[in-house]
Amino acid sequence: MPLLEFNNVFFENDNIKILEDISVGIKQGDFVSIIGPSGSGKSTFLKLCSHLISPTRGYITYKGKDVSEYNPTDLRKSISYCFQIPYLFGDTVMDNINFPYSIRNISFDKEHVYELFSMFKMDKDYLNKEVKNLSGGERQRIALIRTLLFRPEILLLDEITSALDMVNAQIVEGIIASLNNEGMTILFITHNFEQSRKFANKLLTLEAGAIKSLEVLR
Ligand SMILES: Nc1ncnc2c1ncn2[C@@H]1O[C@H](COP(=O)(O)OP(=O)(O)OP(=O)(O)O)[C@@H](O)[C@H]1O
Ligand SMILES: [Mg+2]
Repeated sequence: MPLLEFNNVFFENDNIKILEDISVGIKQGDFVSIIGPSGSGKSTFLKLCSHLISPTRGYITYKGKDVSEYNPTDLRKSISYCFQIPYLFGDTVMDNINFPYSIRNISFDKEHVYELFSMFKMDKDYLNKEVKNLSGGERQRIALIRTLLFRPEILLLDEITSALDMVNAQIVEGIIASLNNEGMTILFITHNFEQSRKFANKLLTLEAGAIKSLEVLR
């Protein structure tokens, strides 16, 4: 049984078809790169995975159960979406990094947080920085660190290296590849053809809201 499965999924809004008849199974441990032209439905596909939006037809199962049957907060702890435009809240980086602890009623684990910052080669002084002053690439990495504090089972990544220089993009790629090696299932949207093939075992191409191809790479 696939970990996550789309069964003839459609998504429309105002009678406009955005995704059309999507059927695909994601296995535990898969690294699926998702490519396709701008507007082809890639972000919509990931939002459906974590039930941020619901299919207008068809259904999506996680571990055999319809995603709509899970408590949304619990589902998003297991299937976590990193937005294309990183969403940070509050005043400081600390407000964001503390959030995953506070919603779980767990006390802030400084050592673990510092470890993650060092994996990303970011100084821990970032914690005191104001969100409004962060660059686009810093926002992307803070949003990713926030998502990784508690490891999701499925990590949905929407162009998360788009604002990064090559060195930082490679650091992030390395972290994602090692998480995948440890068993985390990754869905990775990118516009970079080379990046799409680097670590993925499957390559999903969307075009005009439909699956154009699903290639098995390794
Ligand atoms: N809720 C919505 N209502 C109406 N149109 C929508 C909605 N969500 C997405 N769209 C449209 O559906 C299409 C697919 O959007 P989506 O964000 O999934 O594309 P994408 O493949 O991620 O593109 P990009 O590479 O530019 O990020 C776009 O034309 C977008 O404008
Ligand atoms: Mg998108």
